Parts: sequence; structure tokens; C-alpha cells
Amino acid sequence: MRVLAIPATNSRNGLNRQIVGAAAKLLESGELGVEATVDILDLNDFEMPIYSTERQNEGGFPEPAQRFLDRIGSADALIVSFAEHNGSYSVAWKNVFDWASRIDLAVYQGRRMAMFSTAPGPRGGAGVLEHATLVAPFFGGDVVGSLAIPSFADNFDTSSGQLSDPELRTAFAEVVSALGG
Ligand SMILES: Cc1cc2nc3c(=O)[nH]c(=O)nc-3n(C[C@H](O)[C@H](O)[C@H](O)COP(=O)(O)O)c2cc1C
Repeated sequence: MRVLAIPATNSRNGLNRQIVGAAAKLLESGELGVEATVDILDLNDFEMPIYSTERQNEGGFPEPAQRFLDRIGSADALIVSFAEHNGSYSVAWKNVFDWASRIDLAVYQGRRMAMFSTAPGPRGGAGVLEHATLVAPFFGGDVVGSLAIPSFADNFDTSSGQLSDPELRTAFAEVVSALGG
């Protein structure tokens, strides 16, 4: 199984990049009984002007929008971990998603998806995750599980790159292993 993992933020080594890294490590260890390779996408490689219908009508689609869809299309399954900005998506994710959705509304292309969020606070980005999970089917996403990871600093060990709280670790592994079917 080829998995594409996306931190939905433009932080290069932020909290959600670390969550995606932990999921990749877990999958590639073989511990879950799933044979998988994980490719981690960096939204900074998909920088585009802010979406506008006029830009689209006048200039068509920027090349990164199709490239983003192609990366999803060449994966068997997706992991997305959302940063929450003012209760919603980060602008970096929203912009790429908006451009891509005007090429193909089925941005997620029917892929199985594990969705996460994390934040420094006790809700762990639960608001953006709830929204993303709810709307995913409209964009061709097959969400097999989701988990908001609260209070990142208390629950994640940055030196080992793993969740430190045992209950969260179990819940996290369950969501990740659901990608295997
Ligand atoms: C503009 C902005 C708005 C934010 N809004 C929220 C918020 O609504 N809820 C929350 O839990 N954290 C919020 N935060 C804090 C982020 O959760 C924090 O920056 C986190 O590190 C983002 O994830 P990342 O490191 O993966 O980019 C906000 C941060 C910024 C810069």
C-alpha cells in the first residue's frame, strides 16, 4: 500500500508534521500488520496565488494544483493531519484544496483516509477535524477513522517521535491500521 501523508499546514516541522511522521513510522515498522510505504507531502511545494475565479478564468490553473491531485491519485490511501487556524483550515491547505477542487471536485479521489488534528490546546483542533471529516465524502474521501490529539506538548514525545500517552497511542494505532482495510 502506498500512503500519501499530508500535514495540512505550511509549518515545515510543526505539530501536525510530527503527527504524520509518527503515523509513517508506525505503518512502515510493519507493527500493524500492514505493508506500506509512506510519502510525506510538504504544502510549501504547492505555493500558489490566492484562489480567485477571475484568476482561474484569466490564467487557468497553476501547475501545483494538478500536481497535488496527481500525488493523491498515485497513492492508495491518505493520511491528513489538520492544523486549526481560528477554528478552521490553515490558509495553506485551503488554498491548495480550493484550486484542486476546481479541476476535480473529487479531490480525495475515493481514497481511504485517516484524519488527524493536533494543537497546543486541550481540544487538539477538534473543530477543524470535525468539519474536515464531515465534508470529506463530498470530495470523494472515504474516512476510515479520525482522532484529535489534544495538548500536543503533554501527549507527544518529540525525541522518540511518538505519542507518549498510552490511551492516545492505542487510539492512534487503531485509526492508522484501519487504512489497511
Ligand atoms: C492564525 C492562527 C490561528 C490559530 N487558531 C487556533 C485555533 O483556532 N485553535 C487551536 O487549537 N490553535 C490555533 N492556533 C495555534 C495552532 O494550533 C498552532 O500554531 C499549531 O502549531 C499549528 O499546527 P502546525 O504546527 O502543524 O502548523 C492558531 C495559530 C495561528 C497562527
